[in-house]
Amino acid sequence: MEAEANSGSPEDSWAFIQRPGEGCRTVPLAGHVGFDSLPDQLVNQSVSQGFCFNILCVGETGLGKSTLMDTLFNTKFEGEPATHTQPGVQLQSNTYDLQESNVGLKLTIVSTVGFGDQINKEDSYRPIVEFIDAQFEAYLQEELKIRRLLHNYHDSRIHACLYFIAPTGHSLKSLDLVTMKKLDSKVNVIPIIAKSDAISKSELTKFKIKITSELVSNGVQIYQFPTDDEAVAEINGTMNAHLPFAVIGSTEELKIGNKMVKARQYPWGTVQVENEAHCDFVKLREMLIRVNMEDLREQTHSRHYELYRRCKLEEMGFKDTDPDSKPFSLQETYEAKRNEFLGELQKKEEEMRQMFVQRVKEKEAELKEAEKENKSCL
Ligand code: GTP
Ligand code: MG
Repeated sequence: MEAEANSGSPEDSWAFIQRPGEGCRTVPLAGHVGFDSLPDQLVNQSVSQGFCFNILCVGETGLGKSTLMDTLFNTKFEGEPATHTQPGVQLQSNTYDLQESNVGLKLTIVSTVGFGDQINKEDSYRPIVEFIDAQFEAYLQEELKIRRLLHNYHDSRIHACLYFIAPTGHSLKSLDLVTMKKLDSKVNVIPIIAKSDAISKSELTKFKIKITSELVSNGVQIYQFPTDDEAVAEINGTMNAHLPFAVIGSTEELKIGNKMVKARQYPWGTVQVENEAHCDFVKLREMLIRVNMEDLREQTHSRHYELYRRCKLEEMGFKDTDPDSKPFSLQETYEAKRNEFLGELQKKEEEMRQMFVQRVKEKEAELKEAEKENKSCL
């Protein structure tokens, strides 16, 4: 039957036996086959490979970036406080291997150093954007290699950018708006109000409203917790309404009642980091780590990296369709680029040849002139 089909038009050949548009039929299984274990296989594979998560902390010197990271991950990462005398903004990156139950997490924390310390802050966002792009570029280069090793490649692309807002209770600084605007198409930006114990409850409510309206009116797209997955739609929807989270960081433990809790003690009282009546730290930890870490990783790959990749490949002359909107393959792009290059090379060669001929002619004329002068002298 296949031989018969092969002898006809290409549509009749065996490769087309299932005609396009025919769809596929649902057939019942007479017994257990085993592919229902696929989700488990995926989980096992992921757990044995381990996970990676990369956080970028952007915020002025001393706003509590390092303390918040220590508080979030319940550990003490190394790190020296920065001075306020940096000539420019730098980024400091540290990677740690963490283990919780049987799950391994390679965590990279990148922190700005000297952000907001310069008199002229116009270009403060630039090193941050360059850093994010450099991680995208490294991934793209790995992807474009003939021998790709993506499965054990250390992915350094930034999955979440925590933007630390100073607890002024007033409004966002222009540095904040400019930086977040520059970052919003490159990374998932999560603004947080740092050191929120410095601001009263009523001021905080007003401050949150002010920040949100300023972000909207300046067209800054912050990361929204996804509401399309039923399992997390409700909690994520509620949490989106609480943004930006007002956080407090502390690794100091104090005895409250008969429990040791993370807190900050002041002459007038104690503020508890994990008490939801005191701040939004728990909300941030839940949203960032427990509920949406995978979505942040996914958004980084499918939205931000995809945009970088598309722009970069277009810049390099690659395109999916020709001017008549017909598909244009990588091979054709390569051929077109090669022909363009050879054409330019030929043009340059021709120009050089012409120049050479012209120079020879000029030299000949000069020699003839000199010969004539010599003869007349004799
Ligand atoms: P650099 O890395 O030097 O830019 O600073 P940083 O942003 O990492 O700040 P760091 O965590 O070193 O904290 C600076 C100071 O602020 C320390 O004395 C912290 O104890 C204090 N601090 C951190 N978080 C909070 C907070 O939530 N509230 C208050 N009141 N102080 C905090
Ligand atoms: Mg620090």
